[in-house]
Amino acid sequence: MGNKPETILPPGRVLGIESSCDETAAAIVENGRVLLSSVVASQIDLHARYGGVFPEVASRQHIKTIQAVVDQALQQAHLRLSDLDAIAVTRGPGLAGSLVVGLNMAKGLALATGLPLVGVNHLEGHIYSAWVYPAEAAAPPPEPQFPLLVLLVSGGHSELNLVTGHLKYKRLGGTLDDAAGEAFDKVARLLGLPYPGGPSIQKAAAEGDPKAFPFPRARLDNSWNFSFSGLKTAVLRTVRTLESEGRTLPVKDLAASFQAAVVDVLLTKTLQAAQMHHARQILVAGGVSANRALRDAFLSQKDFPVHIPSLSLCTDNAAMIASAGYFRFALGQRDSLDMDAMPTWPLS
Ligand SMILES: Nc1ncnc2c1ncn2[C@@H]1O[C@H](COP(=O)(O)OP(=O)(O)OP(=O)(O)O)[C@@H](O)[C@H]1O
Ligand SMILES: [Mg+2]
Repeated sequence: MGNKPETILPPGRVLGIESSCDETAAAIVENGRVLLSSVVASQIDLHARYGGVFPEVASRQHIKTIQAVVDQALQQAHLRLSDLDAIAVTRGPGLAGSLVVGLNMAKGLALATGLPLVGVNHLEGHIYSAWVYPAEAAAPPPEPQFPLLVLLVSGGHSELNLVTGHLKYKRLGGTLDDAAGEAFDKVARLLGLPYPGGPSIQKAAAEGDPKAFPFPRARLDNSWNFSFSGLKTAVLRTVRTLESEGRTLPVKDLAASFQAAVVDVLLTKTLQAAQMHHARQILVAGGVSANRALRDAFLSQKDFPVHIPSLSLCTDNAAMIASAGYFRFALGQRDSLDMDAMPTWPLS
């Protein structure tokens, strides 16, 4: 807890491996914080033609690139496997066929080197991305302080967690339907914007009027849950009406109004939850935390100090897995070579 003295953890250099969805990634992080190298091979171009991630294509591509990605992470850090203390790997949640590629790579390396193997929850990784900073930084940025209210918004998840100490999570609520990133992706498709939808909507929204369409905000009072399907349907209805009237879609205004509704709900709920649960600070993580409007909204409120990972660490990467893996390793976790993938795996 925040007021207790921090446990002193042993030093350690961890190789992280991530392959839960459509990014093949490897990174080396020292002491859970200092980023020595990070390599991300994105498959976005491969999946763009399907308008979303095609699972079998993803696993095959992971197999093709994973060895080179790990080699590159070691080279960039000017390290050899013998310089490491542990190997951390994403165990879940994610696509089963993708997860096993990273797991098998990590197991092979652990077997060959005798290094300890640590399985990491991908969502925990997103949270720990906020601990990571580049080795070139003049001074370490302050660490997030517990109790920490975490808004985790990604392609597959949107949830609020209270984190009371390292690796201690209490889930307060989550989406009842679409994840925030999923809503961005689906609405982008509706508006004819390219995949992935989040960055496309952000780009279109930059030149649009966020007040042009008063889209609904699902407040779901007395709960810490979210719902984005009503908002998505409202955008769909508006698009259909405009099309039936033969009007050109005001894509920029629609994108800006949709984005404003999502940001409004996420900010309001998170601040309320932080107040109610006496959090010291707020952390926003996951792919959607790359969104400029969301970052600006959180950074401009004055009620709580806010941590948001740097842009390159918001979407999937392996530095976050190495960081979370370090804390698990330092606190004694060791996994066996028969560790299986967990495609569905809640954080708490
Ligand atoms: N600038 C942005 N604005 C809004 N959304 C964004 C932005 N950049 C990325 N996203 C969204 O983030 C999501 C990808 O995030 P992430 O890589 O964490 O998801 P994932 O790993 O597929 O899902 P999960 O982490 O839940 O398993 C996509 O839905 C994408 O549209
Ligand atoms: Mg992710």
